Amino acid sequence: MKNYLNIALPKGRLGEKVLGMFERAGFPCPSIHEPGRKLIFENEDLGVRYFWVKPSDVAIYVERGAADIGVAGKDILLEYSPEVYELLDLDLGKCRMAVAAKKDFYDDPQKTLKVATKFTNIAASYYAKKGRDIDIIHLNGSIEIAPILGLSDVIVDIVETGATLKENDLEVKETIVPISARLIANRSSFKFDGERINALCAKLAEEVKND
Ligand code: PRP
Repeated sequence: MKNYLNIALPKGRLGEKVLGMFERAGFPCPSIHEPGRKLIFENEDLGVRYFWVKPSDVAIYVERGAADIGVAGKDILLEYSPEVYELLDLDLGKCRMAVAAKKDFYDDPQKTLKVATKFTNIAASYYAKKGRDIDIIHLNGSIEIAPILGLSDVIVDIVETGATLKENDLEVKETIVPISARLIANRSSFKFDGERINALCAKLAEEVKND
């Protein structure tokens, strides 16, 4: 049986850009462009197998070895600290993790700050470093609504264009960390198949420079 290099790609807009970069780097996969609902695609000649997964699940596939490599956002890597190697910043999907609130929000340091977020670990460690007491409210999406309805004082969320904040009368108060897509590798795959993974990583690095 052929020893495929299994590659987990994040489904969606970022994934299309990532796939384009892999293809330009010399790892095309014609079947992945055929219309349909299939999720796994192989290029037998090159020995690569791509599969589409939910962006936030890429790190789980790679950590557990179901994928040898994958592309995950730095937000997910910071939030879940998966035991993977981070090999390369692909310079795609650039955005930032930020604290946002209503424009007139006044931060009273005497009060516990109510923070709504999907990224509870990132928020907790950010405020722990500042020595600020917070009450974290974990939400799964549409975080921007929380301060408007009084569920929280601030939110910790991803800001890309800033349009979502603007349209909901919120603004960035602090930037926590810049975010972009990263190439990650399973630790044992890297140990046993490091040559192949490093070769692919070097070709992708060329593409990042050319982009
Ligand atoms: C993310 C984030 C913001 C939005 C920011 O949401 O949570 O809501 O993108 O982008 P912008 O600054 O360009 O407006 P996503 O689309 O991932 O959906 P979510 O509500 O599930 O978090």
